[in-house]
Amino acid sequence: MTAAQTVPMNAKPIKPRRMSFDMMNLREKYFFHDNPILSTLMYALSASFPDGERFFIDTVRHYQKDIDDPVLQAQIRGFIGQEAHHSRIHEDFNAQAQSLGMAMDKIQKHFKNRIDTARRRLDPGRQLAITAALEHVTATLAQWTLENPEAGMGGENHSPLREMLIWHAMEEIEHKAVAFDVYRAAVNREKERIMVAKIVFRTFWIQMAIAQVMLLWHDRKIPSLQHIRDAWRFMWGPGGFRSWAAPEFKRYLVRGFHPNQINQNHLIEQWHATYPEVAALQTA
Ligand SMILES: [Fe+2]
Ligand SMILES: [Fe+2]
Repeated sequence: MTAAQTVPMNAKPIKPRRMSFDMMNLREKYFFHDNPILSTLMYALSASFPDGERFFIDTVRHYQKDIDDPVLQAQIRGFIGQEAHHSRIHEDFNAQAQSLGMAMDKIQKHFKNRIDTARRRLDPGRQLAITAALEHVTATLAQWTLENPEAGMGGENHSPLREMLIWHAMEEIEHKAVAFDVYRAAVNREKERIMVAKIVFRTFWIQMAIAQVMLLWHDRKIPSLQHIRDAWRFMWGPGGFRSWAAPEFKRYLVRGFHPNQINQNHLIEQWHATYPEVAALQTA
């Protein structure tokens, strides 16, 4: 039995949901915990999504013709539908952030340049390995977000990001294994998968930090010592974003790993009941 056959595929259908968020509710530049470091982290993540998720779609679509399994074919269609919608919603959010004075265009261009370089220089198998690794990153961050609703959704200041994060996190968990399964079915180079992920996990936070510094620089904003302390606690304190995520990232680096070995289903089951305010924003 090959490693690809040891974990049953998640046969649940992946269904894109049409959502309507009111981006005008983003009114404060530094809305996330009133902290410029954490707010720019949210902007950096959001800025990375439109071109990043288009890259994800293209890397999976490249191998779509090679997939015989009708279940995986249906999941690919669901994955593409979900990621395309995420891209569009984050574009709207980014435009609103730009209108508040954040240099979103600059960091989106920075991310786009990096993605274009990957498209030019790497073969399709390696590009798909990047997607599979980044899907593990997003599913991990999604789990933290849904398990830490107080910390992960911006504190007192209401913004559309809270609902967006819940919806996006839920769909990321739903489709977390699709790129991985396509990689296994069409490429299946386990050493390469792990080697690419090691690089992706290391550079992910560096890229976020570069974008944060760019945003703060363009806004001539210097965080206070208190901001730095609070951001450090958020990231590295007990149960913090990064201290919790670090070992979760590492699980992906084990030979024979499959995303479905991490059970996150309880976080998204009955989401209508758990998050009625998000369900109310679904239009189709
Ligand atoms: Fe997404
Ligand atoms: Fe995704």
